[in-house]
Amino acid sequence: MRYYHLFFILPTFILTAVAAVPEFGVASIGHQRLPRNFDHGLRAILSPHASISHNVSSAPRWSEYHAPRPGAVVNVATEHDVQAVVQFCLKHNVPFLAQTGGHGWIDSFHLGRHGLLINLRGLNRTTFNDQRTEARVQGGAVISEVIAEAYANDAQILTGNCNCVGTMGAALGGGYGNLMGLYGFSVDNILSMEVVLANGSAVTVSANQSTDLWWALRGAGPNFGIITSAVMKAYPMPRAKNVAWTGGLYFTEDKIEQIAQAINDTALRAPMNVFLYYTTAGPPSFTPTVLATTFYFGTEADGRAAFDWLLRIGPYKDTTAELSYDQWNTAANSFCIKGGRKPSYGAGFDEFSPSTWRQIWNAYVDFLKIPGTGYSTVLTECYSLSYAQSIPKSTSSFANRDIRFNGAVIPWYTDPSLDAQAQAFGSKVRDLWRSTDGFANNRTYINFAYGDETNEVVYDTSTPRLQKLKAEYDPRDVFNQWFNIPPA
Ligand SMILES: *[C@@H]1O[C@H](CO)[C@@H](O)[C@H](O)[C@H]1NC(C)=O
Ligand SMILES: *[C@@H]1O[C@H](CO)[C@@H](O)[C@H](O)[C@H]1NC(C)=O
Ligand SMILES: *[C@@H]1O[C@H](CO)[C@@H](O)[C@H](O)[C@H]1NC(C)=O
Ligand SMILES: *[C@@H]1O[C@H](CO)[C@@H](O)[C@H](O)[C@H]1NC(C)=O
Ligand SMILES: *[C@@H]1O[C@H](CO)[C@@H](O)[C@H](O)[C@H]1NC(C)=O
Ligand SMILES: *[C@@H]1O[C@H](CO)[C@@H](O)[C@H](O)[C@H]1NC(C)=O
Repeated sequence: MRYYHLFFILPTFILTAVAAVPEFGVASIGHQRLPRNFDHGLRAILSPHASISHNVSSAPRWSEYHAPRPGAVVNVATEHDVQAVVQFCLKHNVPFLAQTGGHGWIDSFHLGRHGLLINLRGLNRTTFNDQRTEARVQGGAVISEVIAEAYANDAQILTGNCNCVGTMGAALGGGYGNLMGLYGFSVDNILSMEVVLANGSAVTVSANQSTDLWWALRGAGPNFGIITSAVMKAYPMPRAKNVAWTGGLYFTEDKIEQIAQAINDTALRAPMNVFLYYTTAGPPSFTPTVLATTFYFGTEADGRAAFDWLLRIGPYKDTTAELSYDQWNTAANSFCIKGGRKPSYGAGFDEFSPSTWRQIWNAYVDFLKIPGTGYSTVLTECYSLSYAQSIPKSTSSFANRDIRFNGAVIPWYTDPSLDAQAQAFGSKVRDLWRSTDGFANNRTYINFAYGDETNEVVYDTSTPRLQKLKAEYDPRDVFNQWFNIPPA
């Protein structure tokens, strides 16, 4: 349907919660397999519709680069199954990791054959209250499922923009999304959470209950627990009004400086966002091009007026249209393809520098000369932040509220012998972003980070309190794979 293979609206990624048991770590590194009779014991504590699989491909990952390689997958069927599995793993010293979409791209997963993957996909229901002002979203629901239910219920929920990504996984890192200019980040839209903690307890966490965990989970969730469901704010919206003007504007590369300057100069209004991509035409030519995807919640006429500053630069192709809420993310579905290697690097920055973007283009075009890299992309998400910034930073551990732009570079290929070149390209683009980021310290949105970042890069000023709370709630560092916070 689309002219370009990789016409996608990148998301706001990531898997759900992550965990592993420490005493199994160093001492048990030689332990290559799950304990004998493991299946039998686990089966006995699961609900009837849960299952255990030794086919790891039954819960595929978005990127095979440094993917976890568990010994077994447990497909839970009830929220209580999650607690039972965690308790079982704690008792038997088995490391574990929870997964929904499997999009977490961190390079430091260490779940191995002696570990268990908890597949949350069976927990995929979204249910609304009568007024459609609140929705209970289960921990294994992907974004398309939440949006479909919201649309069917004449409502909106703040989610990420990529259909296949786990809703809560993306949300726990902060949660950017199309409607955040109006509603804030995902973490601002959570009302309460059901959480399985590091000691195997299941608790309800809200602004009124467990206030330390309430703060910590919204920004650093995978270090503190597994969310089995959350109550999210919902916004009633009649279907006829649940429409946005969105799509792609394709530009020739000579327009890069103009586009970068225009993005830097423009204060985005609440209903709008824009993403800038370097992408290719797909097979067979893989010709690189510049793509801006626009989003305006409202009519085409209002959207075009709001994006006049970008349209005036003169795209050579325009695929924008008025689309209903359940279709906003459809164009991004090609991005959902699982498998292949995607060692992705990210950086936050405050200045959209024309000269930096020219240098990144040159690096991109050079990298594409390597055969088999044609699906690689560079992207930046630019949202309207005024509303989100009116919510005090202190309300959650999420530390990125003040960052204007988030970039990610995704080298995409299948041949592992290209890893070193992909890493060199990815880290070079990250260095370029950081060279004009306007910050005293490196800052990266956790869901866009590579895995080599220090706590301060992803958690910023929340780091010391997170370390203290980690010591209180997960002293043995059970949840230790996702941008691990060592207990202080
Ligand atoms: C493993 O699961 C994948 C995905 O469901 C499936 O395609 C494959 O056939 C399975 N392999 C085996 C050996 O059952
Ligand atoms: C969604 O959950 C239902 C009920 O647990 C399950 O039957 C179904 O397979 C799940 N969907 C996916 C895609 O896993
Ligand atoms: C917190 O408590 C207040 C007062 O009891 C109540 O109105 C509110 O709904 C509670 N909030 C949550 C998120 O439970
Ligand atoms: C980009 O915008 C920032 C913040 O408004 C400003 O400080 C900076 O000078 C701008 N850069 C350029 C190249 O215009
Ligand atoms: C920021 O990251 C770059 C690599 O992108 C590194 O060279 C530099 O030392 C880092 N700066 C700080 C202050 O940590
Ligand atoms: C588990 O940890 C929570 C939070 O620290 C605590 O409230 C609860 O009592 C603990 N449960 C058990 C069984 O120790």
